[in-house]
Amino acid sequence: MEARDRIVLALDVDSKAKAISLVKELAGYVGVFKVGMQLYNSVGPDIVKEINDLGGKVFVDLKFHDIPNTVAAAGRVMARLGCYMFNVHAAGGRDMMQALSQELKAAAQSVNQPEPITLAVTVLTSISQEQLSQEMYVQDLKIQELVVKWALMAQECGIKGVVCSPQEIIAIRQACGPEFKIVTPGIRPAWSEANDQKRITTPRQALDMGADYMVIGRPIVKASQPVEAAIKIVQELEG
Ligand code: C5P
Repeated sequence: MEARDRIVLALDVDSKAKAISLVKELAGYVGVFKVGMQLYNSVGPDIVKEINDLGGKVFVDLKFHDIPNTVAAAGRVMARLGCYMFNVHAAGGRDMMQALSQELKAAAQSVNQPEPITLAVTVLTSISQEQLSQEMYVQDLKIQELVVKWALMAQECGIKGVVCSPQEIIAIRQACGPEFKIVTPGIRPAWSEANDQKRITTPRQALDMGADYMVIGRPIVKASQPVEAAIKIVQELEG
């Protein structure tokens, strides 16, 4: 895998024009474009095909969480759309993730497309230990223990990887092995601003800890020269 293939650019904009202009500018410098709730819900699913037509791979970040039949059906749509990766909440449970994995295999074959990489979101990084205990009533586990348990459960259900905090990379890699995909946001090169991200690592640190993909938004999108910012990150990953 080349260094640039590891960069997932967060297209956190709400107009098609802005998104497409970023894709055209950066397609040669990043590996994957992330379309989240803001962009997908603003402009609709065709954005995935349009980015594919420009040569970009797409991570659809909609974090599905519903009954098994509904999530499996949503997975079928993702396979038809031609997305490269998408995610679900591990909290949706074993049956939901198993139903999705089974359906996806059949769906990808029927449309003659590669199977999208499925990722599980474990505990959102915005959730604190206190919230886990007081609001979700999980009182006997530390967040890191729960994250590893859910990553293992997702893997057993045929899910191909996780989205996690850089702080969880080492424990998940150790538990789930080298093939399991680890995608991490909260990435800030030393030269960029932290913005609202708190527990950050540099791209190089995340790579050294075992991340496969790094989700990066503002350090590239908001840079005065986005292409140069992307090139600097690639060089950091290579060096
Ligand atoms: O601009 P920035 O690099 O902070 O963008 C990070 C992206 O990763 C955003 O799209 C954000 O929603 C997403 N994300 C995150 N932290 C998580 C999960 C997703 O920052 N725990």
